[in-house]
Amino acid sequence: MRGKILLVDDEKDLLEWLSVVLEKEGYSVRCAVSGVDALKIFKAEPFDMIITDIRMAPMSGIELLRQAKNHNPEIIVLMITAYASVETAIKALRYGAYDYLIKPFKLDDIKLVIKKAFSQKRIFTDDVSVQKKLKERYRFANIIGKSATMRKIFDLIDKVAKTNTTVLINGESGTGKELIAKAVHFNSLKANKPFVSIDCGALPEDLLESELFGHVKGSFTGAISTKQGLFEVASGGTLFLDEIGETSQAMQAKLLRALQEREIRPVGATRTIKVDVRIIAATNRNLEEEVRRENFRKDLFYRISVISLFLPRLSVRKEDIELLVNHFLRKYQMPGRPVKTVSEECMGLFLEYNWPGNVRELENAIESAVTLSEHDKITADDLPERINRMAQAGESESVDAESLKGKVEQFEKELIEKTMKEVGGNKNLVAKILKMTRRNLDYKIKRYGL
Ligand SMILES: Nc1ncnc2c1ncn2[C@@H]1O[C@H](COP(=O)(O)OP(=O)(O)OP(=O)(O)O)[C@@H](O)[C@H]1O
Ligand SMILES: [Mg+2]
Repeated sequence: MRGKILLVDDEKDLLEWLSVVLEKEGYSVRCAVSGVDALKIFKAEPFDMIITDIRMAPMSGIELLRQAKNHNPEIIVLMITAYASVETAIKALRYGAYDYLIKPFKLDDIKLVIKKAFSQKRIFTDDVSVQKKLKERYRFANIIGKSATMRKIFDLIDKVAKTNTTVLINGESGTGKELIAKAVHFNSLKANKPFVSIDCGALPEDLLESELFGHVKGSFTGAISTKQGLFEVASGGTLFLDEIGETSQAMQAKLLRALQEREIRPVGATRTIKVDVRIIAATNRNLEEEVRRENFRKDLFYRISVISLFLPRLSVRKEDIELLVNHFLRKYQMPGRPVKTVSEECMGLFLEYNWPGNVRELENAIESAVTLSEHDKITADDLPERINRMAQAGESESVDAESLKGKVEQFEKELIEKTMKEVGGNKNLVAKILKMTRRNLDYKIKRYGL
């Protein structure tokens, strides 16, 4: 499933037609014939996007947008309007709508807008109460962890938030890179300015370029009007370049220029535009290694890694698991019901399991267990089969590849730790004893958060 969309329009024909089309595209779609209906559905289950008509009664699309943003400031809202009334549409953008389409629109247009919307986020609003909600959501208190590595990371983001420095966040999928990027932004002096993110790996190169830098009218077929790039949209705020390791050499050169000169040139434009944004970049690759292999520009790497944060995989910071479990149990608590707990056996499995999907996998496991289990205490039966199976495999020593990897890493971590202690922290000596290169040792120390 590519994403969950709530379609809202008082024209039933349009709803029917569009929902069939979008479902064919792989989205999961629900429909509502009024704003009131839509809000009810929206508050009962999670959605990624709302597509709504503007002209509806009694609740207009704008009012729906405001209330939806108040409920979830990060919901993507796409407006549809039969009247080319730019004024209303601009008002909608100020309240944080992603974009608007004018009826009648072409199918390809709406498909492309939706695809782009899912590859980026524009968290931006003039609404003070929504701003407050966002700051509350990304308070450091909501980022969980007591392991030494996480504590170091909290200290660092606290310091870095107050500056303008570029930050590079490195970590496997699901370790919390985006969460940290948002925490830096919403705890900074730029918190009321936009937080804009783009997944550099999700779009083809030419589209990525025009998304980032904008384009002028007529610069390529389809460029029917001049469009601001995300560097401009994020003006005064933060631009989060997710999966920066996936960019081509040509794109890296353009990014480097933008960062160095603090100016961009929209596609097809003759003049450059000054930009003022803080850049946070993230990747799940080992960029140093990519630089060595000449897949990633060294100069760009140095530019973006002024401050660099490494988020270790969950399986090497098991101290955090219990806290995270309790955090997610509260987060997914059913309204009006007590917070559920997990059985001892269940917690045991959590500590044993290798978590290849990291914190995201743990979060999903808790969410589904809370929903599925009929009792106040979650037991092993409520967990995905995978977790039961892998943990058991560990017990009977018939390990599969993933859990073997976890065990080897745990062993390696403990061995390095022990050796470090024995030689009083002399890394050169540790490298010699363990027969590894010094560079490899440094990498492992960082990776395991030692
Ligand atoms: N330390 C943490 N405390 C609380 N929640 C966390 C923590 N780390 C991650 N999460 C939650 O786990 C989920 C995944 O985090 P996030 O999207 O930031 O990961 P990511 O590294 O960007 O992953 P990907 O590479 O897959 O995009 C999110 O719902 C996030 O809120
Ligand atoms: Mg991410």
